[in-house]
Amino acid sequence: MLCVFKRHLNLWNISLVSKTEFYQALLAQTKALISDEADPIANMANISAILFDALEQVNWLGFYRVINEQLVLGPFQGKVACIRIPLGTGVCGTAASTKTTQRISDVHQFDGHIACDATTNSEIVIPVQLNGDIIAVLDIDSTSFGRFDQQDQKGLEAIVKAFEQNLVLGQTKI
Ligand code: SME
Repeated sequence: MLCVFKRHLNLWNISLVSKTEFYQALLAQTKALISDEADPIANMANISAILFDALEQVNWLGFYRVINEQLVLGPFQGKVACIRIPLGTGVCGTAASTKTTQRISDVHQFDGHIACDATTNSEIVIPVQLNGDIIAVLDIDSTSFGRFDQQDQKGLEAIVKAFEQNLVLGQTKI
């Protein structure tokens, strides 16, 4: 497949990439970015920045942290967003309470979707776990319907996995 991420060819220094190769490069860059840092907030901030810069058709990208049975807004890129989301509510709360990635091609069909930005049409939310507990979610929104396919999910889950391993290695707590 021809590269649809041409905006990032210079960043990744690759001339022609498939989506798989794109995510492999993005994973390597993310690992390099967080490998020497143990502070989870700093790493969430930089992961938000690198992903928001690399991914096209994304209008909001960031983390919500689990604090006292709520999701609380963490480092993000994009417009101002809802600050607190109860576990089990919305796409983010569902990802957190079920510990499963939620890949929603049309958020308007998702019962309980929380519309922080009315222009969002599709969304993917990936849980972040530490020692089996959900400690955060990574939320990515797009104005395009069906923006995220299975390859996006696999690539983004690998990036979240790298962050989880960083959390374990750093023996950090959020
Ligand atoms: N749409 C999310 C809320 C967070 S914003 O998209 C940033 C949800 O339904 O949980």
